This record gives sequence, structure tokens and C-alpha cells, in this order.
Amino acid sequence: MARHLVTSALPYINGIKHLGNMVGSMLPADVYARYLRQRGHDVLYICATDEHGTPAELAAAEAGLPVAEFCAGAHETQKKIYAGFGLSFDHFGRSSSTQNAETTQHFARRLHEHGFIEERAIRQVYSPVDGRFLPDRYVEGTCPHCGYDRARGDQCENCTRVLDPTDLIDPRSAISGSTDLEVRETKHLFLLQSKLQAEVEAWIDQNSKDWPLLSTSIARKWLAEGLHDRAITRDLEWGVPVPADTWPELAADGKVFYVWFDAPIEYIGSTQEWADAAPVGEARDWKSWWYEADDVRYTQFMAKDNVPFHTVMFPATQLGVREPWTMVDYVKGFSWLTYYGGKFSTSQKRGVFTDAALEILPADYWRWYLIANAPESDDSSFTWEHFAGTVNKDLADTLGNFVNRVLTFSAKRFGETVPAGGEPGEAEEKLGAEVSRLLAEYEGHLEALQYRKAANSLRALWSAGNAYLVEKEPWKQVKVDPEAAAVSLRTAMNLIRLYAVVSEPFVPQTASTLRGVFTLDDTATWVSPEAATSLDAVPAGTAFTVPPVLFAKISDDDLDAYRERFGGGEV
Ligand code: MF3
Ligand code: ZN
Repeated sequence: MARHLVTSALPYINGIKHLGNMVGSMLPADVYARYLRQRGHDVLYICATDEHGTPAELAAAEAGLPVAEFCAGAHETQKKIYAGFGLSFDHFGRSSSTQNAETTQHFARRLHEHGFIEERAIRQVYSPVDGRFLPDRYVEGTCPHCGYDRARGDQCENCTRVLDPTDLIDPRSAISGSTDLEVRETKHLFLLQSKLQAEVEAWIDQNSKDWPLLSTSIARKWLAEGLHDRAITRDLEWGVPVPADTWPELAADGKVFYVWFDAPIEYIGSTQEWADAAPVGEARDWKSWWYEADDVRYTQFMAKDNVPFHTVMFPATQLGVREPWTMVDYVKGFSWLTYYGGKFSTSQKRGVFTDAALEILPADYWRWYLIANAPESDDSSFTWEHFAGTVNKDLADTLGNFVNRVLTFSAKRFGETVPAGGEPGEAEEKLGAEVSRLLAEYEGHLEALQYRKAANSLRALWSAGNAYLVEKEPWKQVKVDPEAAAVSLRTAMNLIRLYAVVSEPFVPQTASTLRGVFTLDDTATWVSPEAATSLDAVPAGTAFTVPPVLFAKISDDDLDAYRERFGGGEV
């Protein structure tokens, strides 16, 4: 038994996340956390909403709400959806928490003490009408390259060129529209990452040996380009304030930390929130996970655009504070899930969003499809046709059909208890060997965080049950040799129990339904490959109930309706 810390990239507070966000971070982290818990490890799975920064302020303004109120509502909305997906966070926190503010300020002070933070004066656009400095993207105007008249100060959306706000022709404030803008000098804090380059490189050399190529190649590329000193403060209303004890002038000026500085620290902040939320009588020690925690194995999950921040920038911060904070042991990065080969787009409402997904089908349908097709090395493409094909074949025809067929038939011929009599023979021995082999393979893939391969093994386990039924044909056996039929059905029922246990990381709701089929004192959390087909787990005489059909097939009419509602293949 080991201690496992698991985190998934913190979803931005603005907007509902789409299926691509789900499969690239939270869902695989949940599968892993569930698996590890089932294997008896001490697991802490932490996530939170990432609430600071310009996008949060913009989204709040669009909703016509004060930003704190907007974030509180949006946090609850996301939290409900993730509960609907069966995500088993130990805590789902908020980066706007006081815990995170304190820890972020602590990190900044320590970095300063060790000479890794410096004040520098920069020239920035100021809007007297708005009474504030404008972040680059709050300045709009005409692109000097292509003439697009709604280019933003950081980039032109039309020609994609990177811009400086002072490049824009006829610049105006995106907040008030005011064209009365000036350039003023203002001070910001800079993190001297260039001084930490060598240490980060050494750390990567030491620690990334077993990481997937996707993660190491991105980390190496960033290191090769060199770590640059970066401004880590912003002129925003909403964020972690610069601590006045260390930088009185900047604090009086209302500077807050840049969102990417405080966001990863919220992994720690959220763990502190978890500890502070402990029910009476339960001791929760956040520090034992994060500080001098040599026995903790820490695994992070994220999409590839987040990899540089987690493999290079945040480690630089952690190394620079000169304190023994837990650093990541394994970075699982993901490529993109596309929608018919194109981008999921929030603004164009293209693709499937997590709230809508749960409106049309239960979580397990999505969990299975997404993880079985996880974009682990290459991008993978969501299409409704592929989704329906996978659900119908794997879930309805393979797992669902097996369970319902076995239980319905046995109930009809032998009543609602597991039939007694007969002895297992050669077919059962062969099945046992096959199932043990597949189960060992499945465990290996889960340990190695190989999701597609793990899904293939689990699917093969389900198929082995079907193949066994086809071979034994208990509906024929029962006419000539009821005892032989009883052995077949008893064996099949023990397989159902096995599926209930080992399918849980992928399809937890279904797993719980399957566990409920048998009236058992069933506390086993896992089944070893050796015991996989023992007939002792569900002995003869055990009462059972036939559950309703586990998975409904997706019909052609459903498909038409989904394509109509969500937009089909037109990219
Ligand atoms: N909010 C970021 C995104 O969705 C991820 C932040 S991860 C964290 O891309 F570690 F910084 F919190
Ligand atoms: Zn342009």
C-alpha cells in the first residue's frame, strides 16, 4: 500500500467545459484514482476551479455580475456536472480561496528571499476613463498587418499575428470603448526563471525517465528555447493580492498575481481546503501530502497545452522556494479530442459540452467511449457515428447483453438464486486461464496509465463471457443436462461479479448496479487474477435480482437527432 496524490488540471471558471477538456484531464485522473483506491492505496484526488485572470473578469462582465458572485455560481455549476460524471474528487476547491492566497503569497515571499523575484518598471496602456491599466487583451484596435478592426492588443484574431498593444491603429479600451489612452510606466514583479534553468534541467533529467513522450518532448522543447524572466503580476481587480509586507508600493497599487502563478499552487491550496473542511472527529493532514512527503507518489493529468506549465514553470517555482514541497513524479499529458476532425469551439458552440452530454445519456456511456478512445499519443476524433458504434457494440451488445441474458434465463429456469449442482470442467478451466491472463494484462495497463490498452483488456474480459456462453449454450444444456446448465450459469454469474468489481474505474454507476444484483456481504474491492473465476465469490444459493437493461442502444433516429442538435460533420 502506497500514498498516491493525484491532480487534474484545474478547469477555468468561465464557461462549461466540453468533452475534450473532460478526457484530457479529469476523467483519466478519476479512473486512475478509483483504480488505486480499489487496490487498497491511500489516495488523495484533488482538483479545483481556476478562477483568476482576465477571462474570468470578462465572463463576469458579460453575465452582468460582480466577479466574485459570478465565480461562486460558475463553481457550483461545474461541481454539479462533475458529480454527474462520477468524478470522485476528494476535494474540488477554488483557486480564489483564502488558503490559496496565503500559500501563493508565501511562495512569492520565499522566491523573493532567495533572489528569484525582482521589481521592474514597464510601460503599459492606462485608461483614465476606466481608472486602470489595461491588460494587453483589453486594448482593441485596427491590426497594422491586415486591417482587421477588432484586433486585440495581444494578438489579431484575423491574421493570428502576435501584437503589442502599442502596435494597434486607433486603439480603444475594450471595457469602456474609450479612445483616451496613454502609456504610463508601472512596476511589476518578475520571476527570474532564467536563473533556475539549470536546476529545472537537472530535475527533468532525474525525474522524467518514465514519463510519456508527449510530456518529455514538450518539456525538452521549452527548456531548449530557454527559460525567460516573466512578469508574474497584473493590474486586475480579481486575483491574489501582492503581499503588502514585502512589496508595499505594489500592494497599494492594487497589483495581483498573474493567474498562472497562483493556479498550480491551488493544488496545494485545495488540499488545505480539504483539510479545513474535515468533519468533526476526522483528522486530515494536508501537509503530510505536500511537505517533506517522501512516501507520496504524485501523478498529474493534463492536456498538452498545459504541459509546459507543469513540467517547467511550476517546477521552477517549486525549486526556487527552497523548501521541500512535493514535486510531480509522473506527468500524463493528452493530445486533443476533435469534433469531426475540427476544434471543439465554445464561442461557435461546436461540439458536445459536458452539461449537454449528461442531458442525453448517463455518465457511463461517455466515460467508456472517451477513455476507450483517449487521445493518448495522437489526436482522436469524436463523431456521433463512432460514439454510437462503440456504445452499441461494447456496452449494449457485449457487457449489457451478457448480464441480462444470463440472469433472465437463469431466473426463468432455476428461480432467483444462483443454481446449485454439477462440477466445473474443461471449458471452465480454459475460461479461467483466459480471464486470469486478461485481468493481469488489465492491471498492468492501468498501473502504466495506458488507457486505450486498459480499455481493450476490459472489453476482452467482457467478450470472454460471451464467448463462453456461446460455447456452453446453457439454454440447450438445460433440456438434456440441467446440472451442466447450472455450472454454466453459476460460472457466468461469477463473471458478472468480477465485472462489477473490475469495471468500476471505467463505468462506476454500472458497476454499482452489478454489485447490487447479488445479495452478498460483498466487501472485496478487487479480485486477483488467480481468483478471477473461482466459483466461491458468488456461491450456489445466493439470491439475485435481474436488473433493468443496462445500456440502451443508440438508434438511427437518436443519431439523427444528435447530429441535428450538435452539428454533424460540417467542419
Ligand atoms: N485553467 C487551465 C486550463 O484550463 C489549467 C490550469 S492548471 C493549473 O488550461 F495547474 F495551473 F492549475
Ligand atoms: Zn491582423
